[in-house]
Amino acid sequence: MIGMLKKAAEILVLSKRTIALTGAGISVESGIPDFRSAGGLWEKFDPAEYATIDAFRANPEKVWEMLREMEAIVLQARPNKAHIGLGELEKMKCLHYIITQNVDNLHQEGGAKNVIEYHGNSATLSCLTCGRHYNASEKREEYLPTCRCGTILKPDVIFFGEAIPAKAMNRSFQLASAAEALLVIGTSAAVSPANTIPGVAKQNGARIIEINKEETHLTSSITDIFLQGSAGDIVPRLVEEVRGVREQA
Ligand code: APR
Repeated sequence: MIGMLKKAAEILVLSKRTIALTGAGISVESGIPDFRSAGGLWEKFDPAEYATIDAFRANPEKVWEMLREMEAIVLQARPNKAHIGLGELEKMKCLHYIITQNVDNLHQEGGAKNVIEYHGNSATLSCLTCGRHYNASEKREEYLPTCRCGTILKPDVIFFGEAIPAKAMNRSFQLASAAEALLVIGTSAAVSPANTIPGVAKQNGARIIEINKEETHLTSSITDIFLQGSAGDIVPRLVEEVRGVREQA
């Protein structure tokens, strides 16, 4: 692993355009369960009943049961060493953008500035009837947050069946097309179109460095360096290696 960490660090130091694609796995060590590992969220809540836009329209009360349970966990969560390490790489100009599938805001709280929220975020709510917007914080006391027009509000996270925000989609495609290096951290790469980003980067010549507890379908197909283990352990070690390579340069 040491040799591979050093190789990955050398790639990051040489790359002029490095991006990261992160998934729920990067926040597991902050206490937020991921979706598809054993004990993950989709074991408890069937995504077909809780995570599609049709399910929300049909039964918002039921979907808010899951949303409030997730919210209680996210409100307790703090950035872990992986989030903080990516913030440090950004400060060292060895990471230029993070494209995250997560809606927990932990990259921003961990110091990263250039974060694209591919699946929206949970900080604001919208009314599907009249289009009004609210801050989630001002509606926290209402178990079922309701709009002035009487409609139950929806968080601005992207449900299955909803389009990715156009700005996030276009910017991510642009960045992936120009990247020289891509860090893929804590994602099963199971969900489209987020999972097309690594392929776009690879096609355009980027080196792919994957950090995950276990192999994914990317590992044997497009990953150049696979650093197996938990993000909270590997990312800080990678940051230290980058510091070392920069000092030798
Ligand atoms: N360190 C590194 N990787 C981890 C860790 C950890 N501590 N814990 C779990 N993982 C890995 C798992 O092995 C898995 O490959 O993170 C990945 C998490 O995969 P998913 O649970 O599928 O989460 P994600 O890839 O983010 O899902 C994508 O699916 O349900 C939708 O919208 C939801 O954004 C989500 C999307």
